[in-house]
Amino acid sequence: MNWSLLNQPGVILAPMEGVTDAPMRALLTETSPYLFCVSEFIRVTDQSPPVHVLQRYVPELKCGGLTPSQVPVVIQLLGSHPDRLSETALRAIHLGAAAIDLNFGCPAPTVNRHDGGATLLKTPHRIFEIISAVRAAVPKQIPVSAKLRLGWDNPNDIFINAEKAVDAGASWLTLHARTRMQGYAKPVYWSHIRKVREQISIPVIANGDIWNFQDFIQCFEETGCEHYMLGRGALANPFLPQAITQVLRRNFTLAIQQPTSASLPDWRPLLERFIHFASDSGKSQDYFLRRIKQWMKFAALASSSPYFEQIKRSQNLTECLNQISNSSH
Ligand SMILES: Cc1cc2nc3c(=O)[nH]c(=O)nc-3n(C[C@H](O)[C@H](O)[C@H](O)COP(=O)(O)O)c2cc1C
Repeated sequence: MNWSLLNQPGVILAPMEGVTDAPMRALLTETSPYLFCVSEFIRVTDQSPPVHVLQRYVPELKCGGLTPSQVPVVIQLLGSHPDRLSETALRAIHLGAAAIDLNFGCPAPTVNRHDGGATLLKTPHRIFEIISAVRAAVPKQIPVSAKLRLGWDNPNDIFINAEKAVDAGASWLTLHARTRMQGYAKPVYWSHIRKVREQISIPVIANGDIWNFQDFIQCFEETGCEHYMLGRGALANPFLPQAITQVLRRNFTLAIQQPTSASLPDWRPLLERFIHFASDSGKSQDYFLRRIKQWMKFAALASSSPYFEQIKRSQNLTECLNQISNSSH
């Protein structure tokens, strides 16, 4: 088994459809250290997506499956058909993906109506079948992981689902500590992550609501995990994973007594760097504007940027960047 992706404590960049695409992965992995990124989900229906679709979602596959900062990108597949998922997983591995992650958490009603994502949390035996099939299809040294919410509506369902995933041969589990029915509402059940971690023999990555350094410390105390996946918090403060990694790789107790705080971002250079990476991928002006507004909205949620209110009505990129520059002086 290839364990090198989790061979030291650290942070993983979360898959976020329409958010952590290749330019954002490039920017974030350049700004903070990550063990790896997980791609936005690639949907596998009754057809297995061809090579060009996989490469469109994950252009890094054309560069050894690595971001420009040499951070591996794991491919996430979403679907319910074991054979189609296996076929796609094998194709992704042949293209250079470092590992396969299977999505058992997506709460989108369209996805759930089509028997994908979090709906599978209701049927532990199907989680077993899917992971077993993909595990059997790809070479032994390639990790096959699963990302799960705690349950459809009952957070305690995670205990049986995690057991089935382990029995099926999953290499590690990422747990978003909420149910499907919660959406993104509180509470986030970090204590369940510890219980699962203590119940099973494979690594567990903790995920959900780590927006700042204090959240991380609390999540660390409640879960005791060595690995943390950050999504919205990584967008809201691109330096947060760096601060977390420093702590995770030092003596934990000492580090928590003397917390390292994540410095607040200077947004303009980060936005320019993002535009640089997105320009390389031939994205449109509309794309830039939409993505910067989306990004500043996440940052506003964490109070790490005051810009969203100022730019939300910007009509074009120049106006938007000028607003940010003018406000920073
Ligand atoms: C806009 C958006 C898109 C997401 N897309 C995916 C996805 O493609 N695959 C997945 O497993 N989770 C997806 N998630 C869930 C995140 O990976 C993560 O589990 C969740 O946001 C909780 O972590 P956070 O509080 O650090 O953001 C998405 C979340 C958001 C907000």
